Amino acid sequence: MIGTDPTLPATGVPATGVPATGVPATDVLALAAQRVEAETGLTFPGTRRRQFDAALGRMAEALGLPGAAACASWLLAGPWDAARSALCARFLTIGETYFFREPRALDLVCDVARAHLARGETRLLRIWSAGCCTGEEPYSIAMTLRRCAPRLLPDGVTILATDLNDAFLDFARAGRYRRWSFRRTDPADLDEFFRPLGDGRFEIDPQLRAAVRFASLNLASGAYPSSATGTPAQDVIFCRNVLMYFGQEQARRVIARMRDCLVDGGWLVVNASEASTSLFAGFTPVYQEDAVFFRKSALPAPADVPAKAPAAAPVAFTPAPEPAPAPAPAFAPTPAPAPRRDDAMARVHALADAGRREEALQGLRRAVEADALSAPLQQDAALFALEHDDRALARQCVRRLLYLEPDSAIGHYLSALIEDAAGRRPRARILLREFGRLAPGADAELRGALRQWMERAS
Ligand SMILES: C[S@@+](CC[C@H](N)C(=O)[O-])C[C@H]1O[C@@H](n2cnc3c(N)ncnc32)[C@H](O)[C@@H]1O
Repeated sequence: MIGTDPTLPATGVPATGVPATGVPATDVLALAAQRVEAETGLTFPGTRRRQFDAALGRMAEALGLPGAAACASWLLAGPWDAARSALCARFLTIGETYFFREPRALDLVCDVARAHLARGETRLLRIWSAGCCTGEEPYSIAMTLRRCAPRLLPDGVTILATDLNDAFLDFARAGRYRRWSFRRTDPADLDEFFRPLGDGRFEIDPQLRAAVRFASLNLASGAYPSSATGTPAQDVIFCRNVLMYFGQEQARRVIARMRDCLVDGGWLVVNASEASTSLFAGFTPVYQEDAVFFRKSALPAPADVPAKAPAAAPVAFTPAPEPAPAPAPAFAPTPAPAPRRDDAMARVHALADAGRREEALQGLRRAVEADALSAPLQQDAALFALEHDDRALARQCVRRLLYLEPDSAIGHYLSALIEDAAGRRPRARILLREFGRLAPGADAELRGALRQWMERAS
């Protein structure tokens, strides 16, 4: 509480529950959400606004303020200082992470490291985990390198790990983790890289801990690239499960700045559901079964910009053993307007009706990439993909749908069907329960129709 807890900032907001400006509480909350987005990138559209309002209520409690509106006034008053940034990081960021979360991205690190050694490079290999949370991601990178390119550790590589949340960074520096962080870790890796502390926690090998440098960095700021933050000339940047919480324009700016931080041919790794290719000007997407990586390519000169952005042709993932010449520009800086959802789906259906299934699915892939932020399109596309037996595409569309509309009942139902078909029954049951909660009145007809789709696809 203010006045009793010296670690919390003084707000200067009167404890009356009335925003100092006299602006209605709903407006002041909306203004605070806008300011938070401008300062941190974190956005709370649609149903996520409720989460923001609730978090401000908790923040107000911690500050000793009478309610969310008073807290919003405090966030709006004065310059954006360390106290506001720290409070937002503490109450608004999501700390979900675990070791070895994305094995394919770690395979990519291995390939890049081996190629670096094979070329006899004398410069350091540089890897950056941006939005590193409590450290599981950068330490997974260090462990992977220890195993696949041990010659690089400790002096041939820098692993930079940054986050907005200083509490996460302190935790990461300590390097002590509970079992939950190892939920996808091979027990042999746990034995090899950690020592049990006897209280249920495990401590990372001190040499691995020393291989990672943790630092505070707000991705919505202009602090990179800059030698002061050690961010230029990166070979690989991980920015996974971070941009999904950002507004589109902020995400685009982060991606452009990260491109400036990469060496030519360097890699940007994001989560597949964050991978709307229209945001990645100057990158070539490289697709794997359920992952996509972005490789820095040349930006097209303004005169070269085609009238219509070319479709993102899937490329097989082949790690380059040699330094890659910058590939030809694949994307225009400004994408062409996305086709309307109904037009796109009508074309896809027409192809399927003509018996041209492969072309229909290719068209669908292009449509969902071109309009990755349309929830209705992702939903239609998921249904079509299920019906036409392309579960990987269906999974990708459903994941995007649930990112865009976390409370989508049909998204949960489709997810349940996909999990069920993959034999993951317990997870399917959880999703079905969630579907029931979100759509208590969902009629048997809908359920029946969806089940039929699935049966036809299986
Ligand atoms: C869900 S975690 C992802 C952790 C890790 N990258 C992974 O995929 O396992 C998201 C992280 O992004 C961080 N984050 C959110 N906004 C940020 C910003 N503006 N600058 C830096 N980090 C931010 C959060 O603090 C949180 O640690």
